[in-house]
Amino acid sequence: MIRKLAIAAAFMSFAGAASAEDCAAITVEDSFDLTDDHVTALYECLGAQMAEGYASQGDAIAAEYRNWTPTQTLGAVAGAHGKRVLFTYANDVAAEQYLKFEDEGVEMPVGSVLAKESISISIKKQKARPGPLFLMTKVGLDEAPDTKGWLYGGIQPNGKPMKVKQSFCHDCHIAWESQDALAYPVEEYRVSQ
Ligand code: HEC
Repeated sequence: MIRKLAIAAAFMSFAGAASAEDCAAITVEDSFDLTDDHVTALYECLGAQMAEGYASQGDAIAAEYRNWTPTQTLGAVAGAHGKRVLFTYANDVAAEQYLKFEDEGVEMPVGSVLAKESISISIKKQKARPGPLFLMTKVGLDEAPDTKGWLYGGIQPNGKPMKVKQSFCHDCHIAWESQDALAYPVEEYRVSQ
């Protein structure tokens, strides 16, 4: 509780916010300038609303993923995915292998799902808001021969499915071919085993 208050206080002075409605205000000029305290405060502000939004149209994964294994200690900006703040959860099938963060010969089991929630940062509007929930599901080579057995998907912040072009996602993810197309969270925020 004390920690939460300290973070809230730090954020208030940083953003110059006077009320709860302003808690998503940001003043940085680049998402990479967000500090850990800023990111923590953004989750305090938007975290619950974000998960409710994803789940609001009845999607089963959206309703479940927050009970899965968190793969990082705090949301982080990787650069890809529109410089959003990103946080990945792994389902039970995926967690053991994913959390090794191996870089060679990785082969995720069929049934693995990675769900990555995101916070979009608008520098122009000086505001943060929930971004999409990005999904990767291992369905196997028979079903997805062109994308190494992965099905890419997403849920919009309003709970509706995102239209996703498989090649758009995979053409970037295949850069991590030896990691079974997984890019993993920013290194310093990965949970240790
Ligand atoms: C320009 C490159 C790029 C594109 C395009 C891209 N991603 Fe990613 N993706 C990344 C990077 C880099 C990460 C790891 C960064 C992080 O999560 O902090 C990542 C992580 C992920 C993860 C977490 C699993 C992992 O790889 O560790 C999911 C799920 C995901 N992306 C889904 C998608 C979907 C769905 C699309 C298409 C709508 C997509 N990605 C398009 C680069 C990309």
